[in-house]
Amino acid sequence: MDIRRLTDRLGGLAYGGDYNPEQWDDEVWKEDDQLMRRARVNLATVGVFSWALLEPEEGRYDFGWLDAHLDRLHTNGVAVDLATPTASPPPWFTLAHPDALPVRPDGARLTHGSRDTYCLTAPAYRRAARRIATALAERYGDHPALALWHVHNEYVTLCPCDHTAAAFRVWLRARHGSLDALNEAWGTAFWSQHYTSWEQILPPRATQWHHNPGQTLDFSRFWSDETLAAYREQRDAIRAHSDRPVTTNLMVPSYQNLDLWAFGREVDLVSIDHYPGAPGVDAAAQAAFDADRARSFAGGCPWLLMEQGTNTVYTGDRVLAKEPGDILRHSLAHIARGSEGALFFQWRQSRAGAEQWHSAMVPHAGPDSRTFREVTATGEAVARLGELAGSTARAGVAVLHDSDAWWAMGADGLPSAELDYFAALRRAHRALWDAGRTVDFAHPAHDLSRYELVLAPALFLLTDAGAENLRRYVADGGTLLVQHFSGVVDERLHSRLGGYPAAPLREALGIRVEEYRPLRRDERITLSDGSTATSWSESLRTEGAEALAAYTHGMLTGSPALTRHAFGSGHGWYLSTRLDDAGYAALVQRLLTEAGAAPELPGLPPGVEAVTRHAPDGRAWHVLINHLSEPVPLPRPGHDLLTDGPLIELSPGGCAVLRAR
Ligand code: GLA
Repeated sequence: MDIRRLTDRLGGLAYGGDYNPEQWDDEVWKEDDQLMRRARVNLATVGVFSWALLEPEEGRYDFGWLDAHLDRLHTNGVAVDLATPTASPPPWFTLAHPDALPVRPDGARLTHGSRDTYCLTAPAYRRAARRIATALAERYGDHPALALWHVHNEYVTLCPCDHTAAAFRVWLRARHGSLDALNEAWGTAFWSQHYTSWEQILPPRATQWHHNPGQTLDFSRFWSDETLAAYREQRDAIRAHSDRPVTTNLMVPSYQNLDLWAFGREVDLVSIDHYPGAPGVDAAAQAAFDADRARSFAGGCPWLLMEQGTNTVYTGDRVLAKEPGDILRHSLAHIARGSEGALFFQWRQSRAGAEQWHSAMVPHAGPDSRTFREVTATGEAVARLGELAGSTARAGVAVLHDSDAWWAMGADGLPSAELDYFAALRRAHRALWDAGRTVDFAHPAHDLSRYELVLAPALFLLTDAGAENLRRYVADGGTLLVQHFSGVVDERLHSRLGGYPAAPLREALGIRVEEYRPLRRDERITLSDGSTATSWSESLRTEGAEALAAYTHGMLTGSPALTRHAFGSGHGWYLSTRLDDAGYAALVQRLLTEAGAAPELPGLPPGVEAVTRHAPDGRAWHVLINHLSEPVPLPRPGHDLLTDGPLIELSPGGCAVLRAR
């Protein structure tokens, strides 16, 4: 990770956002310069949607206007995060290359007139993307304003067209080696799906009933690899002409189209976009969830919050405004967890066009507005946190997060529509967040030995190596909670035979699951310890574990629902149902206590977020956010960097950054 080069260049943490000056004129640019200075902006992302202006016709470039903006920003003390504009090809491109337009699963081809109107696998698109990336790198590779490269914008599209089919077949040959192996992996002996030539294989498109789950899982893997290949091509084209770090702004949404562990290994620094989907404390929990994912994909290194909504909370059918103070609180929630700054989408709210109602640092009302005053105050706060650069958060607990398991759980035909990978992951994180712990996400094959507690909330797919790694983690002293419907299938989606979960994990948990018994919608059951549960139950027997709670209904009456197994020097816990919120929170609290996973700054009440950033040289800072509407005395008074003064109490909704060491 190359984040140090960015913060050294900026002289502290990054503050700013997407800047689309091509929407404005000279008078506004002059005001921009002055307002950016006022808001302490030091980094602007430029050019994300500029393809049509930069290359008005194929192979003819017009860089003059961009030269002027880069020079102006540089003179004004603002460094540039220069984007390649490949997320929005111009109309001339799609008219010249209609085969590069994306196709829907039902075969309908989309048109231009929006953005992201391209198919990643179309050779014409890939050539055009490499060409514009190369042209930009040649021209600006060592421009003094340039601090960072921003490839593309949120790789999100999916397309099952004929170009994709051809590329998918190449990928499948490499993965499976032979058609026999593919037929075996996908279980095509059933439903007469046996393939006798590669050309018969298609990406998943609209079909009569269930898709083959092996086909959809492999397609998800393929698409992620293909997207990564497209990123790498641009990155390498840039690296041939520039030594500045390269990133792409990743989405960490509620669905998964990319294996972000793989992206984390290929970017010079991880950057993400975060848009909360709920107001209040839920927004804070979501920020923590995304920020912890970003740091984890960055291998624990510092990373960058590339975009956040300045004043918007997207709640489905309406866009809510943030509450006063949220701009600082949300920015600090990310910085606390290792972000080397806080950037927004976008600097100035569009007067026209597709994103006119997306909020911005300078709203339609102009600088005389609550939003801009908060933006300025947040900019001043971030400017005081320069000494945090290069430090990052550390966690003593982890939630397992595996891209394959997520994709696999999206397959058609599972036993309950309530099996939801993302929801399970969020719930585990939320319970730990509510308990005041900083959380890492970890892959089941990672070294887990640094964690006191590991939660595996939805590990439907688990490889032999992953199961063995978890067994070893428990044997070596770890505390592991595995939740229902985990360790069920291997990497080919083949069911584990002879009892679930996968054998080495069964050993660590001291149980054997014989039968899954999903509950009826809205059915609520009570366990022998008084806790209540919904959604799912399992028929299991202990093989060494002790039963901590049992079912009290139907044929499962008396059989274990929650178990704990002393194994080696650790403990393997298994929860075979979905506890209600209070029961789940109590279980997580019990696990934290038994595992000895203490908060880094004890003594704070629930509702006060405290995360510690650690520098390699031993210095550390507590970042505190009070979500309560009352003042909270600090367990240890300290020097607050935000006010540069002593602090003994956090005000309602207030924040502080204290030197811990
Ligand atoms: C994103 C995009 C931006 C912009 C914002 C709007 O995440 O990257 O281009 O559309 O959302 O809030």
